[in-house]
Amino acid sequence: MSQAKILVVDDEKTVVEVHKKLLEKAGYCVVVAYNGMEALDKVPTEGPDLILTDVSMPVMDGLQLCEKLKNDKHTGLIPLVMVTAIDDFDNKVRGIETGADDFLTKPVRPRELYARVKSLLRIKHLTDSLESAETVIFSLANAIEAKDYFTKGHIDRVSSLAMDMGRFIELSEDDINTLGKGGILHDIGKIGVRDSILNKPGRLTDEEFEEVKKHPEIGEKICRPLRSLEPVLPIIKHHHEKYDGSGYPSRLAGEDIPLLARIMAIVDVYEALRSRRAYRDGMSHADAMRILKEETAAGKFDRFIIKKFEELLDSHADLREAFNLGQNSAEDDA
Ligand SMILES: [Fe+2]
Repeated sequence: MSQAKILVVDDEKTVVEVHKKLLEKAGYCVVVAYNGMEALDKVPTEGPDLILTDVSMPVMDGLQLCEKLKNDKHTGLIPLVMVTAIDDFDNKVRGIETGADDFLTKPVRPRELYARVKSLLRIKHLTDSLESAETVIFSLANAIEAKDYFTKGHIDRVSSLAMDMGRFIELSEDDINTLGKGGILHDIGKIGVRDSILNKPGRLTDEEFEEVKKHPEIGEKICRPLRSLEPVLPIIKHHHEKYDGSGYPSRLAGEDIPLLARIMAIVDVYEALRSRRAYRDGMSHADAMRILKEETAAGKFDRFIIKKFEELLDSHADLREAFNLGQNSAEDDA
């Protein structure tokens, strides 16, 4: 592990010096700030692995600093240790409420400081590894997409429209985020399908289609080891199921198909119809909706979700226009 960086925050210069010396002696790299505001400015550029902060400081105190950092998704996972006076019960409680990870009592005892810092850094290291594993998977999804000129931007458009749909039917914040990730990752299993099949301009043979049909299960297997992606797995595995049970891979029908996968199925097909392919131009919104509704009448999609999907796009011209990409005419005859 490279040398961990610790941000020491205190308005008293002598305290800063003592903490800095102790931490440097233990091999850490130390940066300092003399109030909460200065610390807040330094966090994005310095990227500390841990913050050790005093509570009472001018300009911005340690509690406000903690609250701001913990409520920001970019900094919320940096461990923060508050240094309080021995009998400062109120500030300790407020520190817990604002999300402080640990407390030390002034004057800080070196052994205790080292023990707490070491244990929090161990957790930070694990969180970082998990985050980077997730980043690798998302990069992989983007890399797969980049191989095919005609599907460029597909996953971002699917992800964004799926989230809009989730908001429109008032799903929970967690479900909306899952739809966003599902949009990016749903086709990641295509890495296991030969390029000659994925990019074939004409109709696929039965044998070739059987190979394409494996991508939802391959994708689920790729993402399964990461616990943080668990909520996304049903989308990846079931985004090609059909409401009448004629889809793949599990031939699930009706509400046995997870709700988020039913949403993804519709958004994915809509995006595909509107995009240009090697063998055809993209369709207008009206044509794409006509096909989706015909398919729904034939039992392929969830009627309720199609109805809501149409309402969403009818009421948001900007969302329809975001798909005016490869049509012969950008005119939207909706
Ligand atoms: Fe797919």
